[in-house]
Amino acid sequence: METNEKYHQPVMGGEVVEYLVHDPSGIYIDGTCGNGGHSRLIIENLSDRGRIICCDLDPRMLESAKRRNMEVAERIKYLHCGYHQAADHLESEDRPIAGFLLDLGISSMQLQEGYGFAFMTDNPLDMRFDPESDLTAADIVNQYPLQELKKIFKEYGELSQAGPIAHAIVNARKESRIETTFQLRDILTSFFKKDRLNKGLAQAAQALRIAVNNELENIKKGLRSLTGLLQSGGRFVVVSYHSLEDRIVKNYIRTYSRESGLPPDLEEVLETREFRLQPLFKKALTPTSQEIENNPRARSAKLRAAAKV
Ligand SMILES: C[S@@+](CC[C@H](N)C(=O)[O-])C[C@H]1O[C@@H](n2cnc3c(N)ncnc32)[C@H](O)[C@@H]1O
Repeated sequence: METNEKYHQPVMGGEVVEYLVHDPSGIYIDGTCGNGGHSRLIIENLSDRGRIICCDLDPRMLESAKRRNMEVAERIKYLHCGYHQAADHLESEDRPIAGFLLDLGISSMQLQEGYGFAFMTDNPLDMRFDPESDLTAADIVNQYPLQELKKIFKEYGELSQAGPIAHAIVNARKESRIETTFQLRDILTSFFKKDRLNKGLAQAAQALRIAVNNELENIKKGLRSLTGLLQSGGRFVVVSYHSLEDRIVKNYIRTYSRESGLPPDLEEVLETREFRLQPLFKKALTPTSQEIENNPRARSAKLRAAAKV
């Protein structure tokens, strides 16, 4: 594997530290460790007593972060697990938690290495964050019924051509199993105009990746279970990259911070919620134009933060 230097530009790093680190000697969870760029920034803003616990579903990312943050290794505990499962992996000395960060989605390294997440190079159609998990993107495109495929491309990829795309996949797989990113790319290409091709392919890849990794359910579960671990006054910061993710975070903060005025289907939460949240600001923060210029990957980022009260 190449050096991971080129992947180190933690998105909205200054804002993450500003809103997350309120107790410099606390224990923080970086739920989406990736290359460890945010973890490093957080550690640099803690006192000698402060520590960080890094989770990632992808062991290749944890290895990359370990190499990146070797100098501060004794301050970091690595857990190969989902952030939505972290509560089951912590030991008593790992609590209480002062704050957690979720920098959602996929890292540049996962996109650019041969992990089958994108259509730029030909690789097995995989898209699993965790190579030990069962379901691959190839399983989905070869086995899921037509209506299920249509739902995935419509809901997770927000593609208006979801129906015809699903039909084309079902027809193609009758001829031969779809095993590679280029095989799928060839099926998808005719559905997008030339100037929209890259965007369309990226949306299709996003849809499959979300389905393979159960991403939206993990966000819902992870937010609740990690907030449960926070000490009173503890904080969380979430950076999201598309509206499906951001909507979940926004609704979560809203549902757990309001005293009244929730839609009828959420009224029940007001009575049963086990903690309350205080948003740290109202509208989601976005990166500065200078950050976007330096790191185009940041352009769709939205940051939200709240404290447990
Ligand atoms: C955008 S990257 C994080 C980049 C990181 N903040 C950095 O500075 O390098 C997202 C990471 O989250 C991981 N991931 C996705 N879903 C996860 C989950 N449910 N639990 C833990 N890690 C997850 C991915 O494998 C990926 O490494």
